Amino acid sequence: MSRSALLPRTAPFGDGERASLDAVLVNASPVQRAWLAGFLAGLDAAGGQAQAAPAQAPKASEPLTVIYASESGNSEKLAGDVAKLARKQGFKPKVVDFADLDLATLPKAGKLVAIAATWGEGEPPARAVRAYGELMGEGAPRLDGVEFAVLSLGDTSYAEFCAIGKALDARFEALGGKRAAERADLDLDFETPAADWIKGTLKALAPAAVPDNVVAVDFARAGGDGDEESEPSRDPAVVEVVEHVNLNSSRSDKETIHLALAFEDGAPAYEPGDSLEIYPENDPQLVDEILAATGLSGDEALRKALLAERDITTLSAATIERFAKATGSEDAKAFVESGEVRAWLEGRNLIDLIERFPAKLTAEHLGSITRPLPPRAYSIASSRKEVGDEVHLAIAAVRYQTFGRKRSGVASVHVADRIRDGAKLRVRLKPNKHFRLPADPATDIIMVGPGTGVAPFRAFVQERRATEAPGRSWLFFGDRHFTHDFLYQLEWQEALEDKSLTKIDVAFSRDQPEKIYVQNRIDQHAAELVEWLDGGAHFYVCGDAKQMAKDVRAAVVRAFETVKGLSTADAEAHVAGLERARKYQQDVY
Ligand SMILES: Cc1cc2nc3c(=O)[nH]c(=O)nc-3n(C[C@H](O)[C@H](O)[C@H](O)COP(=O)(O)OP(=O)(O)OC[C@H]3O[C@@H](n4cnc5c(N)ncnc54)[C@H](O)[C@@H]3O)c2cc1C
Ligand SMILES: Cc1cc2nc3c(=O)[nH]c(=O)nc-3n(C[C@H](O)[C@H](O)[C@H](O)COP(=O)(O)O)c2cc1C
Repeated sequence: MSRSALLPRTAPFGDGERASLDAVLVNASPVQRAWLAGFLAGLDAAGGQAQAAPAQAPKASEPLTVIYASESGNSEKLAGDVAKLARKQGFKPKVVDFADLDLATLPKAGKLVAIAATWGEGEPPARAVRAYGELMGEGAPRLDGVEFAVLSLGDTSYAEFCAIGKALDARFEALGGKRAAERADLDLDFETPAADWIKGTLKALAPAAVPDNVVAVDFARAGGDGDEESEPSRDPAVVEVVEHVNLNSSRSDKETIHLALAFEDGAPAYEPGDSLEIYPENDPQLVDEILAATGLSGDEALRKALLAERDITTLSAATIERFAKATGSEDAKAFVESGEVRAWLEGRNLIDLIERFPAKLTAEHLGSITRPLPPRAYSIASSRKEVGDEVHLAIAAVRYQTFGRKRSGVASVHVADRIRDGAKLRVRLKPNKHFRLPADPATDIIMVGPGTGVAPFRAFVQERRATEAPGRSWLFFGDRHFTHDFLYQLEWQEALEDKSLTKIDVAFSRDQPEKIYVQNRIDQHAAELVEWLDGGAHFYVCGDAKQMAKDVRAAVVRAFETVKGLSTADAEAHVAGLERARKYQQDVY
């Protein structure tokens, strides 16, 4: 029998019907076939009415452990998708956050799926640091007999693309695990390839034979999966800009746009701590430069696609390889092989590549060289309880100069320069359940948010005001100059007056000869900070990931050392304990 036909010619179906059934059956896993057998048997017993007759609950038989290392929720969402599909296919899935992972359980996992994002410069997500370190360390348990598969999420614009997923995949193998499916390293447009990878991997992990060869089907649930929550639509919504204000003074060297967006059909049910993704448009001038440099000016359809759909700035080693292949340029090929690409990429964009290796391109070439234009996330700076069907954001315009060329951040400068009141934007909610106000409104909160890091704390304070939360709140804010860069200054003063904010400490780095940052303010207030934390306060950090978040964490560790006389190791363990208890949360970028 060929792989494309399972049913014999003698089966009591017409040719077309047999082909349709074969199309499904040939690709079905043993578990899916067993389920179908049970379904059809039950259907007959129920007189052909799938909804009418209850039957036994499905036998969830095959244990499957799904672990995820996630910062902004993508890997976590995919881990949920794996579990959902696995359950339908007769597995008994267990989903575990790396933050809660006990390594001793892994050797007994049997079948293991790991989904991991890479953050920082090739680092694990913050919540995954402990378990990841243990797994990479000498004390990690052997995984002989464990079948595993790894899905890595990343962004090709980073030099260390998918570093954590790659490292996990190699580590599981080194510990004796057996790779059941090849790892996939996915870029920001991961949704479709991830769904395909999940399907293929579950098939590979499915047991060769299923007990009794038939899975009992619960007909009471046959019309839909009872444990599936109805998910909110993932399609972008179109919103109207109703407020567009620069929060910095006209004499500041920074520009931070306060954006109020109105949802016509009601704002999505967002919570303080969530972000909103904006689908930006590229700079039309840059689009025209690229079209001119590639000999494609005048192609209006392509111009439209480059404006709104393709990423025409990001340059990665993969982009250069694709460029060399598409153009057939010997110079570009030699450059790829030279080993100099990685250093050259730093601070450069696609236009630099096109200028270095001039070539006539086709629209198809440009399509294959570039990736889809990814949306950008912005912390929501409002509470629905205060602003109703609006969402507020604070967006800092990214402008810089490298190699003699002025560069603009795609989304932030689109918002700063080309969007005004009345304009429309496409947006999508990005929930973050790991950056949440305490469930008990009486719990104190400490918020550290320099620059646009302050955005979610405006939402926190609005929410606590609207709900008359009795807990105290303390904000650390920092920026360059008091007079030019004190974002939402009047609102913080009002919040202090109405007691929705208890305390504010500010650090303006360039108002005095020596630089002062939020971590220096934490040092100065160490005793009070420790007192709040010992009293159960939750601690939040938002903003710069590269330096600030690390410096702030180090300052909190220092506070426990100096105030309580703990050793560095004990103070570090104490802060790690706060993280594990979700009392120290961060949303950094
Ligand atoms: C969860 C989350 C929440 C966020 N919240 C906010 C927020 O509230 N407000 C906010 O403003 N941003 C926020 N951001 C950041 C935001 O998503 C964008 O990354 C930011 O606005 C830049 O996007 P862009 O399209 O303007 O720039 P891009 O076109 O993406 O360009 C940025 C890139 O330019 C390069 N670059 C930038 N500066 C320089 C330089 N000086 N020299 C060399 N290269 C440079 C870097 O490679 C950088 O990655 C958040 C990010 C995340 C993940
Ligand atoms: C501040 C920041 C740093 C990042 N660093 C890397 C990196 O070094 N390598 C990489 O491949 N991806 C990097 N990414 C991309 C993330 O891995 C990617 O967005 C992923 O989908 C996030 O998944 P998560 O939501 O599960 O955390 C970074 C993203 C951000 C916002």
